[in-house]
Amino acid sequence: MDEVEEIKRRLDIVDFISTYLTLKKAGSNYKALCPFHQEKTPSFMVSPEKQIWKCFGCGEGGDIFSFVMKMENLEFPEALRMLADRAGVKLENRKSKIEIGQKDRKTRLYQINNLSAKVFHKILLDHPAGKMALEYLKKRGIANQTIKDFMIGYAPVFANLPAGKAGATAGKPSYLTKFLIQRGFTENEIQEAGAPNRFFRRIMFPIRDAMGNTIAFTGRAIEEGQESAYAKASADRPKYLNTPDTILFHKGRVLYNLNQARGPIKQENAAIVVEGQMDVVASHQAGVKNVVASSGTALTNEHLQILYRYTPNIIFAFDSDTAGLKTAKKAYEMAIIEGFNVKMVVLNEFKDPGEMIAANPPAGGPQLWHKAVKEPKAVIDWYFELAFNEKLNNRSTEQLTSQQKKEIAKEILPIIKIIPDQIEQAHYVNLLAKRLGVNEEVVFAALLRVGQDKPSKPKPIKARENLTIEELILAIFLYNPEKIKEASSKVAEKDFKNPKNFHLYKLLLEEYNLGEKELIKRLKSKTSREEQVLVDNLIMEAEKLYQADPASLEADFSQALAHLKTDKREALKNYYASEIKKAEVRKDHGRLKQLIKEFQEAISK
Ligand code: CTP
Ligand code: MN
Repeated sequence: MDEVEEIKRRLDIVDFISTYLTLKKAGSNYKALCPFHQEKTPSFMVSPEKQIWKCFGCGEGGDIFSFVMKMENLEFPEALRMLADRAGVKLENRKSKIEIGQKDRKTRLYQINNLSAKVFHKILLDHPAGKMALEYLKKRGIANQTIKDFMIGYAPVFANLPAGKAGATAGKPSYLTKFLIQRGFTENEIQEAGAPNRFFRRIMFPIRDAMGNTIAFTGRAIEEGQESAYAKASADRPKYLNTPDTILFHKGRVLYNLNQARGPIKQENAAIVVEGQMDVVASHQAGVKNVVASSGTALTNEHLQILYRYTPNIIFAFDSDTAGLKTAKKAYEMAIIEGFNVKMVVLNEFKDPGEMIAANPPAGGPQLWHKAVKEPKAVIDWYFELAFNEKLNNRSTEQLTSQQKKEIAKEILPIIKIIPDQIEQAHYVNLLAKRLGVNEEVVFAALLRVGQDKPSKPKPIKARENLTIEELILAIFLYNPEKIKEASSKVAEKDFKNPKNFHLYKLLLEEYNLGEKELIKRLKSKTSREEQVLVDNLIMEAEKLYQADPASLEADFSQALAHLKTDKREALKNYYASEIKKAEVRKDHGRLKQLIKEFQEAISK
C-alpha cells in the first residue's frame, strides 16, 4: 500500500490535531479556534468521517499532512517523515533519498539541537565537568526527575574557550563541534541551527517546540567560587544567554515549556505565565504544571494567540520588581485585548515564583505556590496591593503625603475606570477612598475626569469582527427571513453603502415573504457569481453564530441596526457640514437656508 495512505489509515486526524488544539464536538464534527488566523469564535472544523479539516474563517484546509505542514512549517517530505514516525510506518523507498538530499534541512537542524541537548544533559548528570553545576542545581532544590523532565544540561569549558583566551584558537573545534561533525553535520549546519557550541560554563535549558524538538537554548551562567584564569574576565557576562533567532526559533513566538504544559493547561483550563526558566522548573516540580515562560522577553501578541488555542484564562505571575511591574501592566492590557480573562498572582515579599517556591514554610514553599495560583487576584486588587505597597513601604496610610496619595490614585483610577459593572466600580471607588483616607465624592469626581480628553471609540459588536455591520444584518436576514419584514420600516435600501449589500437587500425586500429555502434559491438566480459566494458565506457565518446561541441574534440585530443608523447620521452630518460651509463662503444665503432646513429634516427622521 502507498505509504501516505498507510499513514492516514493508522493516524486519526482528530487525535492528532487535538495534540495541538482544543477540539470541541460540534455535531458529527469537531471545532476549534483556528491556529492559522486570529479569531475569537471557532471556525476551524475537523471531520472524523472524512479525515479532513477546514477553517471557514481563513479558508485553509486539507488532510493530516497539510495540517502538520502548515502547523510546523514543514515541507512535504519532512511532514511525511514525522507522521511516518508517529504511525510506525517505515519509509523504505524514500529514506535514503531524503537523507542524502538537502530537502529536510530543518530536520537536520532539529537533530543538531536535539543531540546537543543530550550531550549537555549527559555531561550534567554523568561527567565530572558537570559536577559543580549539578551541585548548584541541587542547592537550589531541583530534583533529578525535574532535571530529566526539562532535559537540563551543562555546557562545560573543555576546549571551548571564548575566542582570544588562552588555549582557544579560532576554528579549533570544541568537544561539541567535534561530536556533531563526527555525526555527519557540517559547521555551516551547526551555525544555522543556532550554534549550540557557543555556550560554555552555563546550565543549559533546551527550548522545545510543541512537538518536543529542541529548537534553541537558554544558558544560565553559574558562579563558581574557585576560579580559572578567565573567571574574572568574564564576570560581567550576562546571567542568561539565548540562542539568537534562527529558522527554527523566533523568540517572540516561543513559550518555554509549552510542550509539557499543553495538556495541563487544557486540563486546568488556565495558563500560568511566568518570566523565567527557573520559575517554570520550580513550579513544575512543585506540581503546578500548567506553566510557561516568556523567557524574559516582553510577551508578544503571538505568544498570547498561541495560548488562546488552549485556554481563554491566563494567570500572570511576573517578577515583582519595577521591571516586572511594567511587564505585567503591558501584558495585562494586551491579554485583555486578545480576549483573555486575566488574573494575577500575588507574590508577597518574593521576587519571583522561583524564589517563593524555594523559600521555607510558612512564608514560602510549594504549598504556598499552590495556594497563590489557586487564588489569583483580580487585576484590580493586584493593582491596589502594588500601588500601596510601593508607596507605603511598611508605614501606615496616615503617613502618606498628599503627593503620594495623588500618585496612588493616578495609578489605580484608570483601572477602575474600565470596570464595566457600575456596582463593582463603586465598590472600588469606596475602597480607594477609604484606603487613602479621603472623601468618596472626591474620588468619584477624579474618576470622571480620567481619560476625558480621549474620545471614546464606538464599541464594536462583540465577537462578530469578521463581518461588517451591513454583512451582519444581511446574514441575519438570510438566517431568519422574518427579520427582513421587521427591518423594512426602519432600514432604507440606501442605508447599505456597499453596492453589493445594497443590491442584496433590495432583492431580499422583493422576496421576503418566501420561505427560507425558496428565498435563497430565488436570490441566487438573480445574483452574480460573486454575490452568490457572499450569500453562501453569510449563511455559514449566521449558522455558526446563532445555531448554538439563538438568543444572541436579537441583541446583535438591534445593535447592528442602531449602528447602521448612526453611521448614516454621521455621513449626513459630514455632507451637510461641508455643503453649509461652501454656501457660507459664497455668501449664498438662499442656499444656506435651504441646506439648514434639509439637514434638520434629515436628522429628525
Ligand atoms: N533573561 C534573559 N537575559 C538576561 C536576563 C534574563 O534572557 N540577561 C531571561 C531568562 O529567560 C530568565 C528570565 O529572563 O529566565 C528571568 O530573568 P531573571 O528574573 O533575571 O532571572 P531569575 O529568575 O532571577 O533567575 P535565577 O533565579 O536563575 O537567578
Ligand atoms: Mn526572576
